Amino acid sequence: MTGELSPIDKAKFVAAKRSVDYVEDGMRVGLGTGSTAAWMVRCLGELVRDQGLKIKGVPTSTRTAELARDVGIEVISLDEAKWLDLTIDGADEFDANLNLIKGGGGALLQEKIVATASDQMIVIADVGKEVETLGAFPLPVEVIPFGWETTKSLIEEMLISMDVLGRDASLRMNGDRPFVTDEGNYILDLHLGRIGAANQLAMVLNQMPGVVENGLFIDICDVVILGFGDGRVETRDINEGTVEEGKLDFLESDNLFTDLQD
Ligand code: 5RP
Repeated sequence: MTGELSPIDKAKFVAAKRSVDYVEDGMRVGLGTGSTAAWMVRCLGELVRDQGLKIKGVPTSTRTAELARDVGIEVISLDEAKWLDLTIDGADEFDANLNLIKGGGGALLQEKIVATASDQMIVIADVGKEVETLGAFPLPVEVIPFGWETTKSLIEEMLISMDVLGRDASLRMNGDRPFVTDEGNYILDLHLGRIGAANQLAMVLNQMPGVVENGLFIDICDVVILGFGDGRVETRDINEGTVEEGKLDFLESDNLFTDLQD
């Protein structure tokens, strides 16, 4: 069964599988959004069902909330949790300082709020997400629908004074309508090519009227777990300055993987 999966899917799975080793009984855990985070939620659900792991999950989207409930995880709101022990989420890009671009799945606002309210943020990613400089992936910016075209023009104008290669912004679509986030907002994807000063850009964007949040996660992520298509996993901890390598044996976990896939 695992042979039918692409190397990227295997890489996402092994990163997700390793990440749940960080979850302990009694924890309040932020549950990310996206295909890699979905593997992690399924792995956690298995631990809840088969090993009696007791956790409370705070999802970062309606999609994740639905999946978490389906696999048996107790779901609570962030306000009920107040503070989280750990958040595990995917990313669209990460650099050597573990700064991220997120929001490819349109959930960046809740993801940033939840990750910021956590003692630790772990990112799980396939090896293709690692970049030298952020920006090849279009930067998602959540904007309110009112006046979005004006906000888009103002952002493009502001980008002239930023250290970026491209300045085009496009409205994210869902078929022939704008994509609408869980908070009822739109997403502008900024095609920047390369972001030279991510911290500055993140701050300037968030000062603009109409902008709710941007997908740059600066100094939020603590650990990246990087999965490879052959089952290897690399764990990088920015605070400890450590890099650990391991391998997940697909043959041993074949049943688990097959079950989770269904
Ligand atoms: C959703 C996100 C996702 O974490 C990001 O897009 C990565 O997704 P995937 O794991 O499917 O590659 O930021 O808003």
